[in-house]
Amino acid sequence: MENTLIVLTTIGSLFFITGCSESSDTALVSQNKTKSSELGQQTNVSRWYTEQHVKNGDKHYQIHCASCHKVDASGTSEWSKKDADGNYPPPPLNGTAHTWHHHMGALRRTIRLGGVIFGGTMPGFEDKLNNQEIDEVLAWVQSHWSDRVYAAWQQKNIQASK
Ligand code: HEC
Repeated sequence: MENTLIVLTTIGSLFFITGCSESSDTALVSQNKTKSSELGQQTNVSRWYTEQHVKNGDKHYQIHCASCHKVDASGTSEWSKKDADGNYPPPPLNGTAHTWHHHMGALRRTIRLGGVIFGGTMPGFEDKLNNQEIDEVLAWVQSHWSDRVYAAWQQKNIQASK
């Protein structure tokens, strides 16, 4: 919980030093845009999912997620600023924002439980999507990531599972 609050409140360039704690294993919004220098050079990565995952995920995404994160996963451009009610808007999921910093378990948990229990506004989907459907949605989301973004995510994912 404490880590989550840090993630929610840390702003700007100190973010990577203080805030992006992967020990906070829930993927909530955070405040930095993806910089090219954060990504490695590796591009020849093979992905964990198949075309069928992405196709199925597209259906779930358009029904459950597009209303907030936009049909193309571009979310809100001003995603790092709170709105008038003090809430973060839905961030882009397309690899330009922060989503790739979170390992698979954290991403699954965010979709299952949402952000509400951590002071966010995203609803949880555990009563609407089963585990396989959640993975399919994530496949669709990740199919929007460039190879460099995917490779950087994969690196974090491997570290998290050690
Ligand atoms: C009612 C609007 C809404 C819906 C519907 C919604 N989200 Fe979100 N989502 C948000 C908001 C707002 C956040 C930022 C955290 C918070 O406030 O809970 C977020 C955060 C996220 C994050 C973390 C992003 C990051 O960069 O750390 C992921 C992943 C995500 N959503 C995926 C999904 C998926 C997949 C669906 C559909 C199954 C979905 N969301 C449906 C509003 C929504």
